[in-house]
Amino acid sequence: MTMPSALTGSGMPAWPEGGLTRVPFWVFQRDDVYAREQERVFQGAAWHYLCLEADLPEAGSFRTTFVGDAPAVVVRDNDGAICAFENRCAHRGALLCLDDDGKAKQGFTCVYHGWSYDLKGNLNGVAFLKGMKGKGGMPDTFKMSDHNPRKLRIASLHGLVYGTFSDATPPLADWLGQPIVDGIARVLEGRKHVVLARYVQALPNNWKLYVENVKDSYHASILHLFFTTFELNRLNYKGGLVVEGGGGHHISYNQLDRAQLDAAYSQQNLRSDSDYKLKDPSMLQGFNEFPDGITLQILTTFPTFVLQQIQNAIAVRQVVPRSAEKTDLHWTILGFEDDTPEQRMVRIKQANLVGAAGFISMEDGCVGGFVQRGVAGAPDMNAVLEMGGALAQSSESRVSEAGLRGFWQQYRTLMGL
Ligand code: FES
Ligand SMILES: [Fe+2]
Repeated sequence: MTMPSALTGSGMPAWPEGGLTRVPFWVFQRDDVYAREQERVFQGAAWHYLCLEADLPEAGSFRTTFVGDAPAVVVRDNDGAICAFENRCAHRGALLCLDDDGKAKQGFTCVYHGWSYDLKGNLNGVAFLKGMKGKGGMPDTFKMSDHNPRKLRIASLHGLVYGTFSDATPPLADWLGQPIVDGIARVLEGRKHVVLARYVQALPNNWKLYVENVKDSYHASILHLFFTTFELNRLNYKGGLVVEGGGGHHISYNQLDRAQLDAAYSQQNLRSDSDYKLKDPSMLQGFNEFPDGITLQILTTFPTFVLQQIQNAIAVRQVVPRSAEKTDLHWTILGFEDDTPEQRMVRIKQANLVGAAGFISMEDGCVGGFVQRGVAGAPDMNAVLEMGGALAQSSESRVSEAGLRGFWQQYRTLMGL
């Protein structure tokens, strides 16, 4: 960990001058910042994506997940309600549930000393509670109801399950804002979701560098050779940038419009403006799915959730911080129950656009590491976020870093920085 010099009264270094246009590199490096994020962001007043309702088809279905670095279990109980609680035994703290998903008949039993919990996460059994032959056991004063893993409040929206540890988090739809709710609805509402694939991608960088990257509509058609060369996303296509809530949620969208190709890209001399051709162009032949004609929508909810629609490739991504300099990115590739076999094949084919080895997004897996390595000796220097001005507002232009400024605005509010 690289330490800068002066700390303020809060124990954190001072944020630089320059409003939302400056971000200090120490924020990607320090272990004390990481610890404060766990407390104020991940266990603070924010909603966190946990899993899909489709992951919990019936009573007892569960999925394990993370809220920041805290492990959690999400489960459908016998009343059909979705519950979530820490994946932490109340005895000595072992993981309660060791699988990624499955079906729990009655509840969960810790392997270490056999304490058991019902589907709502209530402790309901302690092995040898009364000891053996009148000897040992727990004192009479021990009450099981005093010892439960912490529970999360739960809210579902169009098949996405969110949770929060904080009583102060406003209702989910209010916290997201209507434009974000609408952006989720246009991809997911009223459809039966089918998980086509899942994988976890290890990123060699702080989690916020990946979140910045997803919100960064400026880089997309510059860094990604595939995006521009195969005409999926150019900054001159009709589209826009929506920044919502406390600033931390965003949507970037565009409509593919090959008639709009112009000279702007060749003048910039970008690596992404190349003469490459696809041998198999069927990769890009999708079907008309969205009546509004939007062919690309990237939506984030603060702090770590991404909903992606790139043509017919639908996915959700969950950013899971592992340390100040390590992150896991959990991908879930989605289809819908009423997809025809041909449509399903298109989705699977187009799923190759993204992911760790995706034609588009493999570069995103390494640029965060380039930044982490680039700033190693410069904790007191700052990133410059002046593209598109100094504010965190929605705009028609995607040549803008407004989405990033919005993230930092909400982040600093929660972190008290
Ligand atoms: S740690 Fe779970 S029963 Fe002991
Ligand atoms: Fe990217």
